Amino acid sequence: MDLGIAGRKAIICGASKGLGKGCAMAMAGEGAQVFLVARTASDLEAAKKEISGQTGAQVEIVVADVTSDSGRDKIMAACPRPDILVNNAGGPPPGDFRDWRQKEWFDAVNGNMFSAIDMIRRTVDGMVERGFGRIVNITSISVKTPMPGLGLSNGARAGLTGWVAGIAREFVRHNVTINNLLPGLFDTGRGSGYLAYRARCEGVDADSYLTDYFARTPAGRFGTSDEFGATCAFICSDKAGYMSGQNILLDGGEYAGTF
Ligand SMILES: NC(=O)c1ccc[n+]([C@@H]2O[C@H](COP(=O)([O-])OP(=O)(O)OC[C@H]3O[C@@H](n4cnc5c(N)ncnc54)[C@H](OP(=O)(O)O)[C@@H]3O)[C@@H](O)[C@H]2O)c1
Repeated sequence: MDLGIAGRKAIICGASKGLGKGCAMAMAGEGAQVFLVARTASDLEAAKKEISGQTGAQVEIVVADVTSDSGRDKIMAACPRPDILVNNAGGPPPGDFRDWRQKEWFDAVNGNMFSAIDMIRRTVDGMVERGFGRIVNITSISVKTPMPGLGLSNGARAGLTGWVAGIAREFVRHNVTINNLLPGLFDTGRGSGYLAYRARCEGVDADSYLTDYFARTPAGRFGTSDEFGATCAFICSDKAGYMSGQNILLDGGEYAGTF
């Protein structure tokens, strides 16, 4: 299937590694011009080399912290007229809610709720004017089923989800869609780091915890960034203009609810 995004400009936040890089690779493979955003220049250079080497696409890098106003200014200066926006940033640390005060909560809400809202504010009206826009927010399975120890993530991402539900319907008639893509456990620094945290909490070694964990999940394995990126690229395609305001769960069937 031709996704119809060749030549489209795509801002992908958190794209030097993991799920964001998977999204960038998939869209570059479809001929989109991708703008990779992250804070560490050397990782961005490595990702650029890998993605342009594998796809031949035009890859730009933006060294910026998406959780700051100045970082978002820099992203918009590098790509003022994006067709596609993937919102993503590192997840908040795990822990016990008894240890979290205002700073921890405000950081989580800033990183995993407000930053995405502000990137949408900066981009959506231009997409409407140009008659095409695809926005995907990488959130988490924690929006459907809270993850132990990830209270900051469970709370902040639910806030973003509620806000997106309220505004997504406003733009779809202009061929601008806004959806959330919810990862379950993926084989990235964040995914394996979370399982290692759970192992520490239960006082067992990380490898045996991981083996036991996946023995109990339907897919029996981590998801891959390639799988995640392919789904993201489809949601950002010209084929997906009738899908908006959705929460698309990609978790190998781990969430057991009917809906
Ligand atoms: N992997 C999973 O199993 C899983 C499950 C549920 C939810 N999630 C969520 O999905 C998101 C992506 O996870 P991942 O597994 O891809 O993580 P990852 O492998 O750790 O990659 C995170 C990427 O985001 C960049 N980044 C982090 N903070 C940033 C910031 N403030 N500004 C710009 N770039 C930033 C990182 O580069 P720099 O550090 O250099 O900036 C890196 O490129 C996270 O929010 C995570 O909590 C992941």
